[in-house]
Amino acid sequence: MEYVKQHGISVFLMPSGMLGTLLSLVDVLPLFSNTAWGQNYNLAFLKKHMGATFEKHPHPRQATINPDDVHSGDFLALSKIRGRWGGFETLEKWVTGAFAGHTAVCLKDDLGNLWVGESGHENEKGEEINAVIPWDDWWELTLKDESNPQVALLPLHPEVRVRFNNTAAWEYARKMSGKPYGYHNMIFSWIDTVADNYPPPLDAHLVISVMSMWTRVHPAYAANMWNEVLNKRLGTEDLDLYGILAETEKCGITFDQLLTIPEQDEWVYSNGQSTTCVALILAMYKEAGVFGPVSNSIQVTEFTIRDAYMLKIFEDNQTRLPRWCSSGDNKVSFCQILGEYQMELPGYNTLDPYANMNEKLSFLTSTL
Ligand SMILES: *[C@@H]1O[C@H](CO)[C@@H](O)[C@H](O)[C@H]1NC(C)=O
Ligand SMILES: *[C@@H]1O[C@H](CO)[C@@H](O)[C@H](O)[C@H]1NC(C)=O
Repeated sequence: MEYVKQHGISVFLMPSGMLGTLLSLVDVLPLFSNTAWGQNYNLAFLKKHMGATFEKHPHPRQATINPDDVHSGDFLALSKIRGRWGGFETLEKWVTGAFAGHTAVCLKDDLGNLWVGESGHENEKGEEINAVIPWDDWWELTLKDESNPQVALLPLHPEVRVRFNNTAAWEYARKMSGKPYGYHNMIFSWIDTVADNYPPPLDAHLVISVMSMWTRVHPAYAANMWNEVLNKRLGTEDLDLYGILAETEKCGITFDQLLTIPEQDEWVYSNGQSTTCVALILAMYKEAGVFGPVSNSIQVTEFTIRDAYMLKIFEDNQTRLPRWCSSGDNKVSFCQILGEYQMELPGYNTLDPYANMNEKLSFLTSTL
C-alpha cells in the first residue's frame, strides 16, 4: 500500500512479470498499423490466440439488402481487422473470447424505413456517441471504413420478433441517442471475463497495461474514467486513486476484487448513463421484451459481444433467411453482408437467457 502511494498505478501494471508484459506490448503494437502488414498481423494474432480461421472468399461479399426482409431488433455483428480500430478490436476479441468486435442493431419505423442504432458512432466532432441513423447512411460509412469491417446480420427468431415491442425499442433508442459511448462498461465487462478465466498468457495486469496504452492513444475518452468507475464500485464519490486504495483496504477487499464487482445498469456516470455497443442493444432488447420473464434480473452491462451472439434468440432455420443473404458454405443461419473473410461466431444462438447470467461476483455488491 505505502509502496503504491509512492510509485503510483504503474506498480499495478507490472507487478510480477514485468519483462513478460513488455514483450507482450511489443507483440501488440503492430496490431494498430493501418497497412496490409498490420491487417495480416491482426489475422495472424487471432488465428494463433483464438483459433480463428479467416477463410478467404474468392468473391468478397457486398450484399444489396432488401429492407423489407430486415426487422426491428435484427443484430449486426462487425469485425474490424485493420488500423486503430482493428487493433483495438483484436485485443477486445482476445480478452473476451468474442469473434466480433463491434455491434449495431436494426430498427424499422412505422413507415417501414430501416435505421441502424449504434453505440460508438463517430459524430462530426470525432466524439463517439449513441446514434440512430438511416440504413443507407450507415452502409455508406461502413463501405468507406478504413478498418476493413466484415459484417454479419443476425436476424431475430420469428418467435422473438413477435414479442419484440417496437414502440418500447424506439423509446429507448431515442432516450439514449446523443449520449456518449460507455468505455466504463466495456472495460469492466472485460475485466469480469479476465478475472474469471485468464486466457493465457493474459492476466488482469496486461489488460490494464493495454488500457493505459489505449489511454495514451485516445486520452479524451479515458480521462477520469478509472477513478469514476472505481468510486461507483465502492459507493464513494470523487476519491482520487489513493483515496480509492485506502477505502478498498478499509473494506477488506483486494484491488482485484474491487475490479470484478459487477457493473449495475442503473449506475449513472458524469457523462450520462453510459452504454457500450453491445450493452445498448441488449438494454433495448430488455425494454422490448426479448428476454421475457427474466428481463429484470439480467444486467446487460456485464455482457460481452460473445455473450450476446450466443443468446438463443436468433433465426435457426436457414431456409427462412432472405434470398440476398449469403450464409456461406458452412451452413450457418446468419447472413454475411460484407467482407472478404468468412465470419465465424462459435456458439452462435445456443444459450437460453437465464437470470443473473454473466454476473460472476454479485455477492460483493451486496456486502459493500
Ligand atoms: C409496448 O411498449 C409501450 C411503451 O413502453 C407500452 O406502452 C405498450 O403497452 C407495450 N405494448 C405491449 C403489447 O406490451
Ligand atoms: C424451416 O422453415 C421452413 C420454411 O418456413 C419450414 O418448411 C421448415 O419446416 C423449417 N425447418 C425446421 C427444421 O424448422
